[in-house]
Amino acid sequence: MIKSVFGLLALFLGALWMSAATAEVILSDNEIALTLSHGPWPPAFVADPSNRVSGLPAAIKLGKGLFFNPVLSRDGSMSCSDCHDPSHGFADPKARSVGKVILDRNALSLTNVRGHRWFGWAGGNDNLWAQSLVPILNPDEMNHDDESLKTAIAKSTWIQDYEALFGPLSEQAATDVSVNIAKSLAAYQETLETGPTSFDRFRNAMERGDIAAAAHYPLAAQRGLQIFLGRGNCAFCHSGPAFTNREFHDAGVPYFINQTRVDTGRYGGLEALFASPFTLAGSYSDDREKSGAWAVRQVQPLHSDFGTFRVPSLRGTARTAPYMHNGSLADLQAVVDHYNTIDLERLHTDGEAILTPLALSKRESSDLLKFLRTLSDDEG
Ligand code: HEC
Ligand code: HEC
Repeated sequence: MIKSVFGLLALFLGALWMSAATAEVILSDNEIALTLSHGPWPPAFVADPSNRVSGLPAAIKLGKGLFFNPVLSRDGSMSCSDCHDPSHGFADPKARSVGKVILDRNALSLTNVRGHRWFGWAGGNDNLWAQSLVPILNPDEMNHDDESLKTAIAKSTWIQDYEALFGPLSEQAATDVSVNIAKSLAAYQETLETGPTSFDRFRNAMERGDIAAAAHYPLAAQRGLQIFLGRGNCAFCHSGPAFTNREFHDAGVPYFINQTRVDTGRYGGLEALFASPFTLAGSYSDDREKSGAWAVRQVQPLHSDFGTFRVPSLRGTARTAPYMHNGSLADLQAVVDHYNTIDLERLHTDGEAILTPLALSKRESSDLLKFLRTLSDDEG
């Protein structure tokens, strides 16, 4: 009996010693420096100067109430949360969202949305409130016009909260009411954020020089991170704390919607942007300085914008399948397989020669996957 207890103890100590021996940081100094650039997380809150109710608790409360309420759809059939499901990272489990018809794209997650500078897969808007107005007024989605929205709000239980924040509704032009509603929705969405994950604990430990704490990060995830930063070239586009350079690229996803229609991506996004009265350069922005408006004034549509899409953030992505602008890849494994075998014929001829088929081994693919999942494990 005593002997077997000692035997067990020896086994236990042996296992401890083994795990201490294998717990290490295998990154080079250069890889550590690159890793530090993916944080800290989350970023500090900065109110949106183009939205005078950004960050106000009363606006966040009104925006939240409206987000989950069908009053924003003309026939009372649809709320924002139908396509941006909170239990699915505020994205849609359907490949392409369904409004009145099947829409052309997968619903983007709304977590960490306040950090973007272009909104939508094609960047058709340069601010969050303008983007929030799109589904409300789109005939294929919530199908309101300014007048019907004003009437619906006037008759709803939200009227007191609205007037406490924005003043008497009856004295306001209908378009101003729509923009105010969108600004309260934006204030709410600015609060949707993913928390620090095991990747951040690793990164922060290395920043402090605490190698013992950093070594808790699994070796497989470290090897996956090495591929992400190095051979995979993923960080070229998925850069910075949010793992996106916030710009538009062609990642080799086909842009045919069906046999006769293509999704023009950023090209069409710029056309929408130039036609919009709701940009940072326009009179609906509350920012007297019009900061950020230079972008919409200066950006030019180029042939190379055709079929490019905004680089998605990789934070929280494990919760938001399916993937890509058209939801064509069912899970993260399928995304890794896509980059593994990417079809160079599909990439822009005048685009960047950044992506080549990675041809990762089975173990390397599973390491990369393991790393990607550590950007979403803040709930576990
Ligand atoms: C019928 C489904 C549907 C409904 C309802 C819907 N959305 Fe969306 N949402 C989408 C799709 C699809 C996209 C991607 C659109 C694109 O890129 O063209 C999207 C994109 C967005 C984006 C851009 C996010 C980013 O990262 O740039 C925001 C913001 C947004 N929706 C907010 C809202 C709000 C607020 C409501 C309610 C007023 C709403 N949505 C209602 C389907 C929907
Ligand atoms: C040339 C820039 C670029 C590079 C390099 C790149 N990506 Fe992407 N990534 C994108 C773009 C653009 C999309 C969206 C493409 C689309 O929808 O058409 C995307 C989509 C994704 C998605 C889906 C996210 C979502 O929410 O739908 C994941 C995951 C991803 N990339 C991971 C990676 C990994 C891992 C690597 C390295 C092997 C990598 N990316 C390399 C630009 C890039």
